[in-house]
Amino acid sequence: MSWSKEYEIGVPEIDSQHMKIVDYINELYIAFMNKTHVEKLSQIIDGLKNYSQQHFTYEEMLFQQYSYALTKEHKKEHDLFIEKINEFSDSYKRNPNTLTFQVLYFLQKWLIDHIAQSDKKYVAQLFK
Ligand SMILES: [Fe+2]
Ligand SMILES: [Fe+2]
Repeated sequence: MSWSKEYEIGVPEIDSQHMKIVDYINELYIAFMNKTHVEKLSQIIDGLKNYSQQHFTYEEMLFQQYSYALTKEHKKEHDLFIEKINEFSDSYKRNPNTLTFQVLYFLQKWLIDHIAQSDKKYVAQLFK
């Protein structure tokens, strides 16, 4: 998955955080393709989860600061993503075969859709 200009939302700090999440997903993809051993790959999943959580917290702090009307709905999406990563991570640790292309595709698609829809929406309301 490569970063594309169309994913940019026009706020440099947020764009760079999104790029970093893409980097984690790519790192995970490469590790998956190379059949990297379970501990190392689990570390990458944890890294993705922690960094995503950090980014979500940053966005939610902005929502609070600007009293964003769709805070609740937006936060719900963030929470669901973290929940999903936890699920994938738990089942991977139990059985590495559960990490599949579909899982990687889900992560990638979720991120792109979330940026294109929900994140663009708050930027349009709070920063323009
Ligand atoms: Fe978001
Ligand atoms: Fe975001």
